[in-house]
Parts: sequence; structure tokens; C-alpha cells
Amino acid sequence: MFEKTTAVILAAGQGTRMKSSLPKVLHPVAGKPLVHYPVRAALEAGCGEVVVVVGHGREAVEAYLAKAFGASGEKPEWAGRVKTAVQKEQRGTGDAAKAGLSGVRSEAERVLLFYGDVPMLSADDVAAVARALDEDEEKAATVALATCTTENPFGYGRVMRDPEGRVLEIREQRDLKSDAERAIKEWNPGIYAATRRFFDDALASLEPNNAQGEYYLTDIVAFAAKRGDRVAAVPSNPDVMDGVNDRAQLALADRAMCERLLKKHRLAGITIRDGARIEDGVEIGADAVIESFAVLRGKTRVGAGATIDVGCVLTNADVGEGVALKPYSVVTDSIVRARAQIGPFSHLRPESDVGEEAHIGNFVETKKTKLDRGAKANHLAYLGDGFVGEGANVGAGTIFCNYDGFQKHVTRIGKGAFIGSDSQLVAPVTIGDGAYVGTGTTVTKDVPADALAIGRAKQENKEGYAARLRGRLKAAKEAAAKK
Ligand code: UD1
Ligand code: CA
Repeated sequence: MFEKTTAVILAAGQGTRMKSSLPKVLHPVAGKPLVHYPVRAALEAGCGEVVVVVGHGREAVEAYLAKAFGASGEKPEWAGRVKTAVQKEQRGTGDAAKAGLSGVRSEAERVLLFYGDVPMLSADDVAAVARALDEDEEKAATVALATCTTENPFGYGRVMRDPEGRVLEIREQRDLKSDAERAIKEWNPGIYAATRRFFDDALASLEPNNAQGEYYLTDIVAFAAKRGDRVAAVPSNPDVMDGVNDRAQLALADRAMCERLLKKHRLAGITIRDGARIEDGVEIGADAVIESFAVLRGKTRVGAGATIDVGCVLTNADVGEGVALKPYSVVTDSIVRARAQIGPFSHLRPESDVGEEAHIGNFVETKKTKLDRGAKANHLAYLGDGFVGEGANVGAGTIFCNYDGFQKHVTRIGKGAFIGSDSQLVAPVTIGDGAYVGTGTTVTKDVPADALAIGRAKQENKEGYAARLRGRLKAAKEAAAKK
């Protein structure tokens, strides 16, 4: 419904109060940079295009937006709709808005403007302000803005009204003149809607006459009121309007956002114990169980009925139905197929692919290795750059020696092969289907299918030797004690 509305999002500020070398809007909340959320809200509200005003840390912010909202981003159909405009010097939100307006395409009739540091607001919250412009033909407003009312709005701009209740202006905390003004409970969360024409006129009128010597976007409200234009104030939910200016507020926003995600997943039929952390963008199937202190990040997918036990850390993990990830397993950029069992204490590094019903046990590390259905490596192993065929069994302590100090090489284990414990497979090497590798063998040559490879010294038993040795050692100890 808002194809002809362009959203302008201000994100050029340094964020001095963050005390950080990272631009404020790139600080993550629930796993995604602050700026992600307002841009997404604008797109979900149906705005035809979004112009993000960048300045401080411009390259990094632009790079993030291109990745997150490009063709391989969150929704491919959003590609091409997010643009940037540059504010060269950070001279205040009014100046930033001007930079933003210069980037709005000519067909746009209306502009919806808000800040890049308010992560909790939703598409509905911003759409409500845009809709207020046409609420009533006769009383049609020139400019609409969201307002919130709370007990202690310290730090926010306050909504000043005349005795009849008409909005006169927004006054910043630092510019409040009396205790009576400081006691005003209605404040400005910073969502504005008007025609493009109004913004152009109002922004051209701004002067930096305030405590900070900056161009305040908020002064567009006084501009409208002085002209006698109607200003629509849209009562909004204060719980989602907190801006993030410092790291204490960042922590509060992160907590609130994570709580919201947990609730969404719980209501969708997933059991999630206290203390688990599930970041934005994770998908979980019904009846999965996520135990305490599990952390699910990035593009992680968890299939129906899977169990992610205590302390597991999943980053871009694709976990199939009915998988059991036992405690303290780490899975990164990898696939675990249906009903496989992992852990406890397993480490699946990037490009691991564990087949259906396969087992990866404790203290097993895999990297760029594919295990076919039902393959097992149950204890203490390193499997790097390899293939393990269906039903093969890799014994305890097996190592794929994949690296010669210069290059990585591949180890292939055929279907149903058996690798005895404590073997080293020196890659490149292939073990044929159904072959056996004897315990403790260092395999340096390919092993044909159904062959046995064994490479270890022959065992010799010396009768009575242990008893004689003990006698000798005991006598030596006693002789030494007498000296
Ligand atoms: C602003 C509002 C205040 C409101 C509050 C809500 C003004 C003058 N004040 O205050 O009324 O209650 O937000 O959260 O608008 N930015 C730029 N360029 C600049 C300055 C800022 O792009 O030159 C961007 C920042 O990156 C940020 C946003 O604008 O995302 C808001 O700026 P900030 O300094 O945080 O404003 P507040 O002091 O929070
Ligand atoms: Ca702010």
C-alpha cells in the first residue's frame, strides 16, 4: 500500500556514547546490526524504496546493507530497493534528513522518516504513522508523528502542546527550560510521515539554534504548527520505541529482542529452556527441544523433533529432523542430516556434512568432510577433507593426516569399511569398500576393497619376565634407601 512512499532511515551518526570504533548502527542486537531492523520494518511495511543515510563508517554500513538486502540476502525480492545517501558531516538529524531527501526518487510522493538506532519497532508501528496522514479527509494532517507516554522519558525529546492539546513542537531534553517542561511525560520516538514537498520546505527552514548547535529534524514539527498545519500525533507502544545510544541500552535492546524471539518460537510449538539464546533469522521445526545455554545463530535451521542439548553452539547450521545434538557440541556452517547423533563435545567445522543416522561421538572434530548414511566415528578423531562411505566405522583415535604443511589432501573411506583404533590415514589416500585397517596402522598406500591393511610390529610375549623385572627394581630401590 506504500509503493509511492519512500522510507528514509538516519544512520550516519558516530554514536559517541557507544565509545566504540564500530559505527553505532553496526552493533548487533540478537545477532544482527541495529540498522537491519528499521530497514526491514520499512520493507515489510511495503515502502517502495528505502534510503539509508550513511556517513560515519559509511563503507562498512554500505557493505552490510548490500549483503543483507541484496539478491542473496534475507529476502531476494527486496534486492534493489535499499539505497544509501551520504551525509558528509554529521551536523544533526535535520541535516541528515536533508541528505536523505536528496536520495529519494522523483516518483515518491510521501516520505516516512525514522532513526536507525531504534531496533524494536515493527512494520505495523511505522505503517500506523504513515496511515495517519489520510485518516480523515477534512482533518488531513500535513505531518504525522508517533508519540509515547511513559513515567520517566529522560533523554528523549518531549511533545509540547498548547492548552487545546494541539502539538506545537518537540523540545530536546537539553533544551527543556523548567521543571514543568522536564515533567512532560509524552515523548518523541522519532517516526515521522509527510509529503516529500513538506519535508523539503520544512528542512530548508531549519536553524541550529539549540543547546547542541545542530540541525534538529524535530524542528519540522514547530515549522508545521507555526504555519497552522495540522500535526497528527499517533499514540505508539513505548515498549518497542527505545533508542540505543550506549551499551547499557544496547544490552536492554538485545535482551528484549531475544525474549521476543523466544516467545515466538515457544508459541510455535518448540520447547526452549531458560538461558537458551536464539538469534534473529533462526528457523526451528515443531517439537524441537532447545536446552539451557544452547546458542543458535545466523542462518541456523533446526528440523522438527530435534534436540539441541545444553551448551551447544550452532552457527549457520542445517540440522535435520530428529537429530540429537548432545551437550556442548559446536556446529559451524555445516549440515547434520535427519536422525544423526552428535556429541557430547563434538566439533563440526565448516563444510561438514553428516549423513542420516550417522554418529559423531565425543571429542571428534570434522572439517570439510562428508559422512554417508549410518557412518560412525564415535570417539576421539580428526576427520578433515574426507569422505566416509555408508555404514563405515571409524575407530577411536583415528586421524586423517590431511595437511603436509603446504596443501590439504583428501581421504576417502569406502562403504562399510572398518578403520581400527589409533590409525593414521595419510592423505591423499583411499580405503576401498569393505576394507579393514588394523588397529594402530599408519596407512600411506591405497587399500583395495575388502583387503586388510595392517602395519605394526609383531607382538612377542616373554614368559615370567614381568615378575623378574619387579624383583630387580624392588631390590635396587631398597639398596638405594640403605645408603
Ligand atoms: C533523537 C531525537 C529525539 C528523540 C530520539 C528518539 C532529534 C534532534 N532528536 O534524539 O527527539 O526523542 O531521537 O530516539 O532528532 N544521525 C545522523 N546524522 C547526524 C546525527 C544523527 O544520521 O548528524 C542519526 C544517528 O545515526 C541515529 C539517529 O540519527 O541513528 C538519531 O540520532 P541520535 O543522536 O541518536 O538522536 P537522539 O539524541 O537519540
Ligand atoms: Ca538515539
